Amino acid sequence: MASLTIRKLDDAIRDELRLRAARNGRSVEDEVRVILREAAHHPPPTAATPPAAFQPEAADRRPRAAHGLPRVTLIIGGGIAAYKALDLIRRLKERQIHVRCVLTRAAQQFVTPLSASALSNERAYTDLFDPSSEFDAGHIRLGRDCDLIVVAPATADLIAKMAQGHADDLASAILLAANRPILLAPAMNPLMWNNAATRRNVAQLERDGVALIGPNAGEMAEANEAGVGRMAEPTEIAIAAEEFLRPPQPRPLAGKRVLITAGPTHEPIDPVRYIANRSSGKQGFAIAAAAQAAGADVILVSGPVDLDDPAGVAVKHVESARDMLRQVEASLPVDIAIFAAAVADWRVVNEGEQKLKKTSAGMPPLQLVENPDILATISKLGDGRPPLVIGFAAETEHLIDNARAKLARKGCDWIVANDVSPATGVMGGDRNTVHLLTRDAGEINVDSWPVMSKEQVATELVARIADSLMAKPGEKTS
Ligand SMILES: Cc1cc2nc3c(=O)[nH]c(=O)nc-3n(C[C@H](O)[C@H](O)[C@H](O)COP(=O)(O)O)c2cc1C
Repeated sequence: MASLTIRKLDDAIRDELRLRAARNGRSVEDEVRVILREAAHHPPPTAATPPAAFQPEAADRRPRAAHGLPRVTLIIGGGIAAYKALDLIRRLKERQIHVRCVLTRAAQQFVTPLSASALSNERAYTDLFDPSSEFDAGHIRLGRDCDLIVVAPATADLIAKMAQGHADDLASAILLAANRPILLAPAMNPLMWNNAATRRNVAQLERDGVALIGPNAGEMAEANEAGVGRMAEPTEIAIAAEEFLRPPQPRPLAGKRVLITAGPTHEPIDPVRYIANRSSGKQGFAIAAAAQAAGADVILVSGPVDLDDPAGVAVKHVESARDMLRQVEASLPVDIAIFAAAVADWRVVNEGEQKLKKTSAGMPPLQLVENPDILATISKLGDGRPPLVIGFAAETEHLIDNARAKLARKGCDWIVANDVSPATGVMGGDRNTVHLLTRDAGEINVDSWPVMSKEQVATELVARIADSLMAKPGEKTS
């Protein structure tokens, strides 16, 4: 890993870094780490990906983390629908989106900054000439230190000011200075919406790359009036915002069926005692979640663990190695099988039907017998063998040599080897250092990955699987 000396950066970058770090309440070094992580996880959009209409030329769409959450600046305009903006704050927050509110002068006739700040847990902004936020050009910051600007309700007046490039209050100045995508939720009387001036202004904003949600048709606040002009519902606006903030991920495993085993197995001694190991199941669960996020149809066969089932994954809970094998076999056929479970090698021959008692005869002898080898069984299947079978080798010594031997002995295609000596903290911990062993034209390739979180290992492994499928579509991947 390269190291970086911040003192050696040029002055402008260093000043910008310090300012950014101070705003985010982080040390400069932590800020650099966040920037690098964001750059690694969110590379700049390619020409193929951006929805052009939603991307002003200068917009940098990389999410800006606020405690890891994407950020929205919500501008509340002075319309009767302003009360719904308070609900919108809640809908955004329940989607793990950080919200900062700006209220126009007119909006404050309908809702108070106090309500907006209490619901957003952030200061609400109202004044362009506010000395407490303009010491560092706060109106510029509010339009840039976010991932998306939402205007709800977007009044006819705000729309007109945007279309003309006005900046005579905080909301319009933010909108003019913004370099983030802008989503408008117009709300007004149908006559205002259909007025030729509003039509021209909306058309201009669409040409400028501003996105709109709604307005919907329906009853107006004014008695006996109906038509197009109602603000989209808060949930609709929140969903539209979320689509900007979390664009759909590529789904390279779409249409693939992936089987994963995870966790330890429990081998009963008697009705209350069992032989187990220290596996937490975290790595296998992370792989299941990553495969599901990559579009796969995932079956997770898990031994006893203290983890929530990953969303969107079919989980089969088992106890012993024999149960696990049964469920694995019942889950076939699959395209990819990943055996991350720490299956007990042995079980007790004669499991006691009653709790074993202490006796004067001394300790009961526990005779052990070998468990079925799930990885070898599936790897050596004739018909029905998954095209890609991946095993895990948890070793405490001679890691690579043992993993090489295991790859040859078990007949699987890849082995993920990890050192589980107590000093590594891998068993039960959140990080892992793995080596991926693959076969290439009779040779065994060893690819050693740096220490990563178990989620990162999972994402990387799924990416490697996707690459291998792309390389040899329809062929056995080994
Ligand atoms: C009771 C009332 C309701 C209003 N509702 C709306 C509305 O729904 N949409 C709209 O565009 N203007 C509405 N207006 C007019 C705006 O409040 C007015 O154009 C104001 O200047 C907008 O300021 P802003 O765009 O800075 O928030 C309403 C005015 C009043 C008095």
